[in-house]
Parts: sequence; structure tokens; C-alpha cells
Amino acid sequence: MSTLTASPQWKALEGHYLEIESLHMRELFSNDPERFSTFSLRLGDILFDYSKNRITEKTMSLLMDLARSTGVPERLQAMFAGEKINTTEDRAVLHVALRNRSNTPMLVNEKDVMPGVNAVLQQMRTFTKSVRSGKWTGYTGRPVADVVNIGIGGSDLGPHMVTTALAHYADGPRAHFVSNVDGTHMAETLKLLNPETTLFIVASKSFTTQETMMNAATARAWFLEAAGNKKHVAKHFVALSTNGPAVTDFGIDSANMFEFWDWVGGRYSLWSAIGLPIALSIGMDRFEELLAGAHEVDNHFRTTPLEENIPVVMAMLGIWYNNFFSCGTHAILPYDQYLSRFPAYFQQGDMESNGKSATLDGQIVNYGTGPIIWGEPGTNGQHAFYQLIHQGTKLIPSDFLAPVQPLNPLGKHHNVLLSNFLAQTEALMQGKSPEEAEADMRAAGMTDPEIGKLMAHRSFMGNRPSNSILYKRLTPHSLGALIALYEHKIFVQGTVWNINSYDQWGVELGKQLAQAIQPELTSDAPSESHDSSTNGLINAIKKIRNE
Ligand code: F6P
Repeated sequence: MSTLTASPQWKALEGHYLEIESLHMRELFSNDPERFSTFSLRLGDILFDYSKNRITEKTMSLLMDLARSTGVPERLQAMFAGEKINTTEDRAVLHVALRNRSNTPMLVNEKDVMPGVNAVLQQMRTFTKSVRSGKWTGYTGRPVADVVNIGIGGSDLGPHMVTTALAHYADGPRAHFVSNVDGTHMAETLKLLNPETTLFIVASKSFTTQETMMNAATARAWFLEAAGNKKHVAKHFVALSTNGPAVTDFGIDSANMFEFWDWVGGRYSLWSAIGLPIALSIGMDRFEELLAGAHEVDNHFRTTPLEENIPVVMAMLGIWYNNFFSCGTHAILPYDQYLSRFPAYFQQGDMESNGKSATLDGQIVNYGTGPIIWGEPGTNGQHAFYQLIHQGTKLIPSDFLAPVQPLNPLGKHHNVLLSNFLAQTEALMQGKSPEEAEADMRAAGMTDPEIGKLMAHRSFMGNRPSNSILYKRLTPHSLGALIALYEHKIFVQGTVWNINSYDQWGVELGKQLAQAIQPELTSDAPSESHDSSTNGLINAIKKIRNE
């Protein structure tokens, strides 16, 4: 048995779960008028309300005991100290250095990384200023009108999500993102572009990722078809990478490479040179505000007692539902259209980090680890999947995010949006008892048989947990803070589960098999080396495309 599930702190939570399981949040609220202030925290412009959870003060105290006993405070300090906590890759995990606006030394291998971080920020500043002002021109002397980021996973999702989220502040060239190796993604994007005024950013930490290398080669071929001479590539292609030699081999001038380092995980890299498309869109000053928002959360995370530490509370609530209520998923529901890609971003952020079964010491876990993360902006989700959250058989802990002030004050839109957000969390918590459902139906003039028939359908059990995360207004600063809250939540959960949140071996097998299958798709010989399904599919593709 693992030491985690055998620990007294885990056992205490198992026992406590039996006390809480049958308690309804309605009672918890009616018994305690102070519940909101007991279970909510403020950090700058952010208010985190976790009172609509199936918890009591004892629950939180037991969860914090678990966090302490699994070494969360020590591991957190180890991360900030640049220790190699990514043990399977022997790397430090220091994305916090990228947004260390106080500029205090941060060490990896006893060397301060801040001078390197600051140098790349300066390089980004010079470059973005030149492009945004029109000083940087293409091969025919015209300024850049469109920027295409070619990358995938962490080299796409972060810049894409943030550029979308901060579209209100965009005053630079138009941003496009091509990630999928499906030629359609590149083809449809190229249709919108003029090679004379397009800048391609090839973003890849490794500079070996198949999808990105193929898309970059296609983009270069498209560009050269118009520009003719290879010398023009320097004006239209830049690279964001840790792999200098591969960038040069691809033909990108090393002067046009923006460096980052192996201690920056791909899914934690938007704060690095990988953020260049963001900075081109909104300018370097605002990019640095994004960093500052994250830095504020880093300081909070590093110095605040566990009980008042927002990412720690978010993480431990997640563990409560994942491991004791056996919830398999967690929904992220932004009531902010600008955050439409926020759930997709944290699908990678969370699921690639904590979708693991092996502990740091190489044992297979006997408890659940990372949940399935999903979500869509409200109110769209209300008309799609909320039915299941309200009345389905699965308990789905949900985060609701909403800005107090809109960036687009159009008539009554924002009040309607906010009232929907508030109504949903209230309905999930309160539900509607059969008596209340009956009273409603009577008031509507329904007969006894009609009421009897519909009673079960029109009752809501409630007691469905949610967090509400309010922020004053979506700004680069508040967005940086929101992202960092979730990043640290993921870190805390990984620590409790004793897994490495910073590797991703699970994506390797599919990559290897794809390399092996690729030549088979063009060979004349029938495929026989796989299972019968895979052989059958390969052979069918070859047959059908010739029909
Ligand atoms: O999906 C696996 C992965 O390695 C991610 O972790 C990473 O974000 C993505 O591929 C892209 O990698 P790279 O930036 O090296 O191209």
C-alpha cells in the first residue's frame, strides 16, 4: 500500500468524508451566516470564493494537514530555489524566474538565471518595437501586417490563449496560430496572408517536433515561391527555441532566435520567448504587466500560510473531490468570452502535468491523480452541458470565473452575464427540493397527476460544488495572476500525489508509432506487422484512396 493512502492524514480524511457525504450545503449555509467570509480569500483584484463547497472548517484543516504531511511547503521552496524537482529529466522547474519582476537572483546550478532572462526580455522589446512601429520591413520594404505562430502544445496554447484573452488590448499586427499537422490548418491560414507582409514565428522548445517542423517547412516553401531568394527568409522567419543548432540548420539566422532554457517546461513557457506573439500583439509594456500579475501570485504562493494560500486551497479542494468523492473531472467555466481558450489551455496545463500513474520513486499509484479538465465559456455551456452538471449522476466540481467590470459595456449585457453566473452557482448549491418543485407546479396551475408525473424531473438535488473566481477587470495583470493561480494549483496537487508534474513521457509512444507507420502509408506492400485493426485500417486507407 502506498504511504500516501496509509498515512494518518489520508485516513482522517477518509473518515471525515463519511461525515460530510450526507451533509447538504444548504444546511451549512443556513447554519452559518458567516460562511462566505470564512471561505473566501482576496488577492489584489481577485476574490476567490470557495464557500459553495462540501466542506467545513474541519475539512479544510484536515486537507491542510495532508498538504503539510506530503511536503508541500518544502517542495514549493525547492522549486523557487531552482532545485531539480523534475527528477525524470534532471531539470529545475523555474518558470517563476521568467516573471520575477523584483529581479532578485534565482539560481539554477548555482548560477543566477536573471541576467539571461532580462537579456531575452530586452531582445523581445527591441524586436517588438521594431516590428510594431513598422521599422522592421519585409523583402519588399513593407511593414509586417500579420504574424503566424507555428508551434504546438505549450508552444501554441499559451500564446494563443493569451492573445485571444487580451484582444481588447491588441494594437499590433494580426496574430494567427497554426498548430495542427493537418495541412488544412496551414492552407486555410495562408489564404489570408500576403508573403510580403507576413512574419512567421517558429516556436518549438525542442525544434524537433514533427508537426511544427513540417508546418514551418511548408510556410517557408510558400514564402519562397513568392520571394524567390533565400536571403529574404531572414526578414520573415524568427525562431523561439532552446535548440540553437537546429534553428540554424533550418535556415533561420541565429540573430533572429529568441532563446529559452531547459528549466522552462513547454506548458509553462508563455512567460518566456514563447510569449513573443503576445508581445507583438499587445506591446512589451503590457507583456510585462502580464508577467507582473503572475509574479504577484508567485509571491503570495511562496509566502502565505497554507490556509490562506489561494492555489493551495484550490489544489486541496480538487484533491478532496478527486480522491474522496471520486470525481473524475473538473470543469473550468469562464463567464468571459475573452477567456474562451482558458479551459483548453489548462487541459494541457493540468492533464499533461498530472496525468501520471508513477510516483517519484517509480511505484504505480493506488489513488487517483489528475482529473479530466474541460469547459466552455458561460453562458454557452448553460445551453449545452450544464444539464448534466445540475441533474446528472456525476458530481462535477466547477470553477466559475467572471470579471466585475466588462471591457465592452454594451447595454445590459454584463449584468445579464453576471446574473447568469451567480444564478448557476446558487442553483448548483441549493438545488430545488421536491416540495419546492411541487409548489412551483401548483402555482402554475398543474393538476395532481401532472405534478406526480413531473416531480422527479423538476427537482434538483443541489449540493454540487463550485468555486467562484471574480476579478475586477480582465487586464494583462489580472490574466497573468489567474494563470499563475492554476499553475501553482497543479504543482500542489502533483506534490500531494507524489508525481512529477513536469515530464510528459506519455506522449512519446504515439509519436514513435507514427514515425513507424508513416512510410507504410506510401509503401506498396500490405501492412502486416501491427494488430489486425491497425493493419486493416492502413490497408483500407491505401485501397480506398485509389478507388
Ligand atoms: O505534447 C508533448 C510536448 O512535448 C509538449 O509538452 C510541448 O508543449 C509540445 O510537445 C511542443 O514541444 P516543442 O515546443 O518542443 O515543439
